[in-house]
Amino acid sequence: MKPVLPHAQLDWDDQGRPRSRVFDDVYFSDKSGLDETRYVFLEQNRLAERFAALPAAGRLVIGETGFGTGLNFLCAWQLFEQHAVAGARLHFVSVEKYPLSPADLQRALALWPELKPLADQLLKHYVAIHQGFQRITLANGRVTLTLLIGDALEQLPQLDAQIDAWFLDGFAPAKNPDMWTAELFVELARLAAPGSTISTFTSTGWVRRLLNAAGFKMKRTPGIGHKWEILRGEFLGWPADVAPPAPEKPWFARPAPISAERRALVIGAGLAGCATAASLAARGWQVSLLERHEAVAQEASGNPQGVLYLKLSAHGTALSQLIVSGFGYTRRLLETLQRGTDWDDCGVLQLAFNAKEAERHAQLADAFAEDLLQWLDQPEAQARAGVALAHGGLYYPEGGWVHPPALCQAQAAQANIELLSHHEVLELRKVDEHWQAFDGERLLASAPVVVLAGAAEIKRFAQSAELPLKRIRGQITCLAETAQSQALTTVVCAEGYVAPARLGEHTLGASFDFNSDDLTPTTAEHQGNLAMLEEISSDLVARLHLNEQPVESLQGRAAFRCTSPDYLPIVGPLADREAFIQAYAALSKDARQIPDIACPWLDGLYVNSGHGSRGLITAPLSGELLAAWLNNEPLPLPRSVAEACHPNRFALRNLIRGTR
Ligand SMILES: Cc1cc2nc3c(=O)[nH]c(=O)nc-3n(C[C@H](O)[C@H](O)[C@H](O)COP(=O)(O)OP(=O)(O)OC[C@H]3O[C@@H](n4cnc5c(N)ncnc54)[C@H](O)[C@@H]3O)c2cc1C
Ligand SMILES: C[S@@+](CC[C@H](N)C(=O)[O-])C[C@H]1O[C@@H](n2cnc3c(N)ncnc32)[C@H](O)[C@@H]1O
Repeated sequence: MKPVLPHAQLDWDDQGRPRSRVFDDVYFSDKSGLDETRYVFLEQNRLAERFAALPAAGRLVIGETGFGTGLNFLCAWQLFEQHAVAGARLHFVSVEKYPLSPADLQRALALWPELKPLADQLLKHYVAIHQGFQRITLANGRVTLTLLIGDALEQLPQLDAQIDAWFLDGFAPAKNPDMWTAELFVELARLAAPGSTISTFTSTGWVRRLLNAAGFKMKRTPGIGHKWEILRGEFLGWPADVAPPAPEKPWFARPAPISAERRALVIGAGLAGCATAASLAARGWQVSLLERHEAVAQEASGNPQGVLYLKLSAHGTALSQLIVSGFGYTRRLLETLQRGTDWDDCGVLQLAFNAKEAERHAQLADAFAEDLLQWLDQPEAQARAGVALAHGGLYYPEGGWVHPPALCQAQAAQANIELLSHHEVLELRKVDEHWQAFDGERLLASAPVVVLAGAAEIKRFAQSAELPLKRIRGQITCLAETAQSQALTTVVCAEGYVAPARLGEHTLGASFDFNSDDLTPTTAEHQGNLAMLEEISSDLVARLHLNEQPVESLQGRAAFRCTSPDYLPIVGPLADREAFIQAYAALSKDARQIPDIACPWLDGLYVNSGHGSRGLITAPLSGELLAAWLNNEPLPLPRSVAEACHPNRFALRNLIRGTR
């Protein structure tokens, strides 16, 4: 089990500057933090001229050890705004073992009034920053910050990125020797793009020698303030005497970038399609969003309220990592929507409704920090929920409910996205370098890239027909708010869930039916939902006066969830299945083989589907993951998690098991 990472423990000096209690060191120089950052990190990496040289669709990727107060990030962002052309983008990836609490970050950044406009944007999005990869989209997508929360030596090996400039920060080597190691520098080298530069405020001899040994050519250069000398350098290449990192397995390697034309069709305008369109549009792509209905969010993504429900594992599984990262990403997106009608951060309480659940909760409470989840005993849980409850449970203070159509609409509203409603795609054909979407013999649209985001309907296309997606019907029940039910202050879940009212109605969810293909709401399922409500709180049943009205009069809505066998979504590039089986047939005899054969990609064809019961948490970040695959950018998730979501995983497993 991973140790729970606490927030940074700070002391503040008489000038209001933070100092780390754990490391007994300062976050920035006591003279002028701004001048030092600019000199040591921005100038030594020649960022002003490199930003100015970026073409309109260009980008620069900065990597940093030690995010701290974000001062280096904000200074780099400010310089980028001053020098880069419209359309260029900045990626900043920073690892941080002890993130500042939001209150401390605000206090620290108040020291720099000239950075206030940028600091305010960062602070607005600095919510739900928990362990693992946490992506923050800023400046309408022009700036992407990916925080890796955890120890640098644990997090960086999971990063898939090409870093153009390294900021080697992280307290003085003498105060933090555990971080400044040969092992870390090998990671910096592994991640260095050709021509990558690096700088650091220290000139310590062993740091310089170890960086040189990792393939960087380091030079001493005059320092600033208290610092007599500092170090700057560039990456020359992998040293001959160090074993090179293993190449990616070809079935998970990045496909070659598509032609220069940045145009895509996204088929399906639910949470997955709208998120994909938004992530591509933010990167300057022109997106046609094809939807068979009149508007976005008419199927699974059309419920009035969905819950930000985190079903975590204490064992750090790929799914659990995805959930923590996805929750954070969605939660930050919601900050730009209207609280009360589009979403509400009223918290989510998961009841320990049986002994097994109670045991799982106890493990989770040990494995995760209190700002993500807290164990509440029965009286505490009841006080939190505002209605009588029979059990205690886990409380997620940053959770809540979302009106999914509002999120879809906001994402689809970007300038580069054209919604083509009443467009149902029946067939995909590849002609020259373009994918063509047909409805019978009518050509609807074409582009070099197509993303299939039509949930289980993507099985209708020959190219994706073999993906193991299943539909599971689900029905919600809408319950009119009463004067007494207003007391409910948080979402409460057991086997089902109920949310505080939105616009006078509570959503009660949701049934699971693996067999039905009919989407007409049924009384039987309303009854099933009411039984789940009874399990959550019989007091709430009484407050809603449910025993006084006939079940037949209840209103609701049914739709299909779309799930994969391992409950992970399917996100990434598609390969030609038959060619894949032939290329890697050797794996059926020996699963450890890595044939030196490039993956037979269906160039330009991508999938974002299989979001099951938790699309609110997984779909928005999956849009970022897809955009990262398509743009050859840093992945927003650990490599292993991206591989666990990769469309090729099923064909690969079948080959290895000999089941084709
Ligand atoms: C009853 C119920 C309750 C749920 N509760 C929650 C919850 O509380 N929290 C949560 O996180 N998740 C919940 N979910 C799951 C969540 O709703 C889904 O994971 C999510 O909506 C999936 O989004 P999607 O975009 O993949 O699919 P969809 O929303 O189904 O969107 C797919 C879109 O593609 C379109 N389409 C398909 N094929 C084509 C084609 N060939 N041409 C054109 N258009 C096409 C469809 O019309 C549709 O609009 C619930 C689901 C259900 C059914
Ligand atoms: C000097 S501060 C960084 C200042 C920061 N770059 C800024 O702009 O404010 C050093 C940071 O490194 C972090 N750190 C120290 N050791 C670390 C490790 N092993 N892994 C990740 N972060 C670490 C500390 O928690 C601290 O926030």
